[in-house]
Amino acid sequence: MDGYGTGRFPAWQPRQPCHGEDAAGPYTPRFAVSSREISVNVILFGASGMVGQGVLRECLADPGVTGIIAVGRSTLGQRHPKLREIIHEDMGDLSAIEADLAEGDACFFCLGVSSAGMSEQRYSRITFDYTMAAAYALSRVNPGAVFIYVSGMGTDSTEKGRSMWARVKGRTENALLRLPLKAYMFRPGLIQPLHGIRSKTRLYQAIYSAGGPLIGLLKRLAPGAVTTTEQVGRAMIRIASNGYPRPVLETRDINAAA
Ligand SMILES: NC(=O)c1ccc[n+]([C@@H]2O[C@H](COP(=O)([O-])OP(=O)(O)OC[C@H]3O[C@@H](n4cnc5c(N)ncnc54)[C@H](OP(=O)(O)O)[C@@H]3O)[C@@H](O)[C@H]2O)c1
Repeated sequence: MDGYGTGRFPAWQPRQPCHGEDAAGPYTPRFAVSSREISVNVILFGASGMVGQGVLRECLADPGVTGIIAVGRSTLGQRHPKLREIIHEDMGDLSAIEADLAEGDACFFCLGVSSAGMSEQRYSRITFDYTMAAAYALSRVNPGAVFIYVSGMGTDSTEKGRSMWARVKGRTENALLRLPLKAYMFRPGLIQPLHGIRSKTRLYQAIYSAGGPLIGLLKRLAPGAVTTTEQVGRAMIRIASNGYPRPVLETRDINAAA
């Protein structure tokens, strides 16, 4: 059971234009600026994971990111003047930290799990409910904020296909795009972890460890098929500053935006 129909989330309404949007195209920013010319306060979910670690690294390094609030269920064990951690157990109910979320101009949602061995109900709870809890809270306290969701290549926008994970991610994407947020869906395929970053999913880490040189080669031969943790982080920061012409970004878009 997800949050819909339970009274936890309101019925979704058609997406309303946000600030900075006009009839020329909802995802086209009026002013293209470098990320160095603006100040972005980032809310980061999933900072302890492979994707989130990469995003955190880029945010800490970028002078255009003035602060990062990392929301997680345990400490990152990392200190930095720009980093503030919020330890929060129940990601399905963020009411206690809404005031903190109001400080963010952009939310980078990197929390997620592999569906391997999971029931649809359990996978949906983490994938859909947790994501929507964050997005809905942000849309209430800071309507028009940027929300970037790490989805995945092959996500099923019809929500009717045979693949359970793809349907659930498709439903999540569709619901996000209806909220009064500047929402962007990242659909990476293969992500190469850089700078010593490791996946928390043992299977993925084993693949990255064994296939590292092959992934590097693939990236050179087919740059549109592979991205890196660094490019994902860079793309998020740039899009938070400059927007992107489309709300759904495949690997090629992520690399172009980075
Ligand atoms: N890795 C890839 O190559 C790849 C490719 C395409 C898409 N993606 C997508 O990117 C997202 C992140 O993947 P990843 O590889 O970074 O995963 P990961 O290394 O397994 O990290 C998962 C993150 O989500 C958090 N999390 C998981 N379950 C949670 C729960 N029940 N409550 C609170 N936090 C929870 C973890 O926090 P804890 O530290 O507390 O466990 C961790 O921060 C996923 O949605 C995945 O589908 C990944």
